Amino acid sequence: SWTMGSIIEEQIAAIREQVGNKRAICGLSGGVDSAVAAALVQKAIGDQLTCVYVDHGLMRKGESEQVEKDFVAATGVQLKVVDAQERFLAALAGVSEPEAKRKIIGREFIRVFEQAQAEIVAEAPNDHPVAFLVQGTLYPDIVESGGGTGTANIKSHHNVGGLPDDIEFELVEPLRQLFKDEVRMVGSELGLPDEIVHRQPFPGPGLGIRIVGEVTKDRLDLLREADAIAREELTAAGLDREIWQCPVVLLADVRSVGVQGDGRTYGHPIVLRPVSSEDAMTADWTRMPYDVLARISTRITNEVADVNRVVLDVTSKPPGTIEWE
Ligand code: XMP
Repeated sequence: SWTMGSIIEEQIAAIREQVGNKRAICGLSGGVDSAVAAALVQKAIGDQLTCVYVDHGLMRKGESEQVEKDFVAATGVQLKVVDAQERFLAALAGVSEPEAKRKIIGREFIRVFEQAQAEIVAEAPNDHPVAFLVQGTLYPDIVESGGGTGTANIKSHHNVGGLPDDIEFELVEPLRQLFKDEVRMVGSELGLPDEIVHRQPFPGPGLGIRIVGEVTKDRLDLLREADAIAREELTAAGLDREIWQCPVVLLADVRSVGVQGDGRTYGHPIVLRPVSSEDAMTADWTRMPYDVLARISTRITNEVADVNRVVLDVTSKPPGTIEWE
């Protein structure tokens, strides 16, 4: 559209002016904001931008590939992928308490990201140093900062530990005048895939806070399968725009008795948490069609080993939060 086109042209000019012949780094979280910010900056300065994607192993099925393949194909962006799955699993071993999990995931994320950042800084030629950090900050983030910010949001003007002089980056924030719907329009205009542009909210700590209990590789794999089935059926039923988001939660420390084939089972419940909301501050549980719920339940219990029960969360927010942890 005309307006989005002119916003893009204006931002591209501003980014070129700000960055000059220096370099920039941008962390990708898999979410809309960082993707659109990175795509805009890529359009403005090309290979002077390097993106970093920390794969913490807590993403849903197909999401890392979406960043590593689809996003790169759509933008031509230079991407450094850090496979940190083992590191996150090791750090989370034995931890069940939600706030402890969040702290660990946030801490590890910053460490891994800063390490990658330091490598990119060290590789840059002296006459084109890395001086900028791109962030997908939106207008509402600035107005009411706090709330909904994830581990991907590295704090402003932070330092890279262990580098000479503790290099400080200047921020590039090309979305700071935009609202979410405008960011999506800019993303579409830039040719980003719909799966990225219309992605529903997903927490920075990922599936780590959707396993009630300790996070292990097996549990993550199980939850990824259940979540993929739920998302597939919700999309097939055309409910993606109606539902704000639908966390799928594994009650890893709960078992209940079931029967399947000729045998008794003793498996885990999966919780479906479809919510309707405007801004995630308050939410209501979505009255979604029973036939879609039935399909999801049948498929999950048939296709996911060790799950013998699917339950629906019918709690509004407040008193329940959207996530279970
Ligand atoms: P709650 O569970 O507090 O979630 O009702 C409100 C919204 O925020 C998302 N959420 C997070 N997003 N990092 C994020 O980036 C987090 O640690 C985090 N915790 C919750 C949640 O998915 C919902 O959209």
